[in-house]
Amino acid sequence: MSGFSAQWLDLREPVDHRSRNVDLGRRLARHFEGWRPITVVDLGCGTGSNLRATAPLLGPDQSWTLVDYDQALLDAAAQRLTAWADGADQQDNRLILFKGAKRLTVEFRRADIAGDLDTTLGASANLITASAFFDLVSAEFIARFAAAVARRRCAFYTVLTYDGDQRWTPEHEADAAMAEAFHAHQARDKGFGAAAGPNAPDVLGEAFTSAGYSVEESDSAWRLGEADAALITDLARGFADAVRETAQVDAQLIADWAAVTRSAAIVGHTDTLALPPA
Ligand SMILES: C[S@@+](CC[C@H](N)C(=O)[O-])C[C@H]1O[C@@H](n2cnc3c(N)ncnc32)[C@H](O)[C@@H]1O
Repeated sequence: MSGFSAQWLDLREPVDHRSRNVDLGRRLARHFEGWRPITVVDLGCGTGSNLRATAPLLGPDQSWTLVDYDQALLDAAAQRLTAWADGADQQDNRLILFKGAKRLTVEFRRADIAGDLDTTLGASANLITASAFFDLVSAEFIARFAAAVARRRCAFYTVLTYDGDQRWTPEHEADAAMAEAFHAHQARDKGFGAAAGPNAPDVLGEAFTSAGYSVEESDSAWRLGEADAALITDLARGFADAVRETAQVDAQLIADWAAVTRSAAIVGHTDTLALPPA
């Protein structure tokens, strides 16, 4: 169990998909135009949301490896991908999916990404990707990771990395103190050393630029409104729980903040596309 429930990932998936930066997705699609087959590794795949959003941008013949250390999420991914596809077959330990005119081979790998990176990334990926993952890792891991990707000369595309911006409607006097404490909580070790948290987009950009990659970053903020009431409620509850653990904000103030019914929220994210030198 990773602490990320399939229910939470289900709740955020439609918002994640509509928030992804469309121009950067098109740029990715242009880079891979005409590639057949294309081999993709998805890090911290959860229930497979990133595949469902990224596969439509890529060619007709795709081979995916989905990596997570949570077996329950990998099992949920296999179920949800089978339901998402127009048709599915099982071949050995692979799932073959048919979606529109595309054929996707999907392998599931249970692994701790903080461990042996070379085994996790494999030798043949054309694209390494992730969604809502890189704010969990440390700057040291990102440096090691960028070097490993650069050795493979493959493309890197990661979406929905938290960038530190958060705005709530209505505003509350404790918003700034809550955000500061939340960011302190985000910097805690999530298994990779002190997490980069909201600095992750900048750290990624610098690491890939230093590796000689061409890096583009674009906004993918969640812009939540009344139709997203369930997500706003869960999000505010999660923020309040995290802040409580830091003991940086007075308990009564946290309780007052958590008691507010919010009609809207913005949570800043960045999408990053890093392409190898020609
Ligand atoms: C915020 S969730 C994102 C899931 C999915 N990519 C999505 O967009 O819905 C982060 C994912 O990273 C996985 N994860 C976190 N640390 C990991 C590690 N050290 N090794 C493998 N997976 C990890 C979690 O199990 C979880 O599925």
